[in-house]
Formats: sequence, C-alpha cells, structure tokens
Amino acid sequence: MLKALFNDSKKQLVSAIKHKKHPFRYFALTTLASDGSPHSRTVVLRDFDTDAMTLTIYTDFRSPKMKELVNDPRAELLFYDSNQLLQLVLKAQLLNSEVSSSHFYQLPEQSKKDYSGKDQPGAIIKGPDKVQYDFEVPHFTLLKFQILQLEYLKLKRPNHLRALFEANDNWSGKFIAP
Ligand SMILES: Cc1cc2nc3c(=O)[nH]c(=O)nc-3n(C[C@H](O)[C@H](O)[C@H](O)COP(=O)(O)O)c2cc1C
Repeated sequence: MLKALFNDSKKQLVSAIKHKKHPFRYFALTTLASDGSPHSRTVVLRDFDTDAMTLTIYTDFRSPKMKELVNDPRAELLFYDSNQLLQLVLKAQLLNSEVSSSHFYQLPEQSKKDYSGKDQPGAIIKGPDKVQYDFEVPHFTLLKFQILQLEYLKLKRPNHLRALFEANDNWSGKFIAP
C-alpha cells in the first residue's frame, strides 16, 4: 500500500504538468530569509521528473526567493487538492538555477512579461499601469529542486492516510499517525 501512495503522489504531480486545471499546478513554495524567517509564495509547477525526483519552476532571477535560495537552498513545497482532500508536503533543496534565453523566447508573448519588468520584483512602483518592460534583457530563470522527502496525507473515513517517504530510505516509506 505504501508503494501505491508514493506512486499516486507522483502520478498527481505528472498530471498537474499536463492538465492546467489540476489543483497541484499551483503550490506554495517556502524559503528561508537571511534572518531565518519563513517566506511563502504561490508558484506554478512546470516540470517533474519521476525518476530523478526533481521538480522545476520558472521565476525572475532578481526575485527575493532567488536570493534566499542561493543563501540557503532548503525549501518546502505544499500541494493541496481540495477535491481529493489530498495534501503533499515536499522537503527539497535547490539543485540548480539556469537563466535560459532559449526557454524565454519560446514562451507565449503574454507570459514573457512576467520576467521582463524593468523594475525588479518587489520594487515600489507608482501604480499597476506604470510597469515598464524590457524584452531585450530577460530575467527568466528555471529553478530545479531535488526532492528529499515527501509526506502524503489523505483525509478519509474510517482512517486518514498519512505516510512519509524519504530519498535516504530509497523512498520505501512508513505510515505515520495522522
Ligand atoms: C497564481 C499565481 C501563480 C504564480 N506563479 C509564479 C511562478 O510560477 N513563478 C514566480 O516566480 N512567481 C509566481 N507567482 C508570484 C509569486 O507568488 C510571488 O509573488 C513573486 O514570485 C515574488 O516572490 P518573492 O518576492 O517571494 O520572490 C505567482 C503568483 C500567483 C498568484
């Protein structure tokens, strides 16, 4: 049964890459600021490698999350599917970051704007319509995370299902009290 839960987790993540409406497409990524405080934000799941257990997001390399990850590569990733009452909590660390012009130029025009603001993310601006873009200097970056631990929790009757899987343990897993 543990194996089935682990495989289900991977299947759901793969599905979120293919299906834009899958609840796992958007997840909360938590990193650590230099003073040790947690910092969470929503991001889009872009890729998931089931064998390597790596996961990719896109971002602007000037964003605070980037600086935080360079300073401390540890991250927590929270996925929740309200239809299935399924939560996955992944512990991961930044494996690499790649500023990729080739990926950037393949993005739909509208999406390119997300990585092309003249002001760096978080800068104070005069208003939403005052954002300026520079498409010649893309800041588009792929962030790849190595998953180290996956906690599965499904609320169901009569018994909730909670299990912990770790890379160190070759993902064999163990049940834990819900
Ligand atoms: C629905 C939604 C999806 C988002 N997807 C991303 C994303 O894939 N990558 C990203 O860098 N920011 C994304 N954001 C913006 C982040 O949540 C965050 O506000 C921004 O990246 C700045 O984060 P930071 O200041 O913590 O680095 C998304 C926000 C929302 C509301």
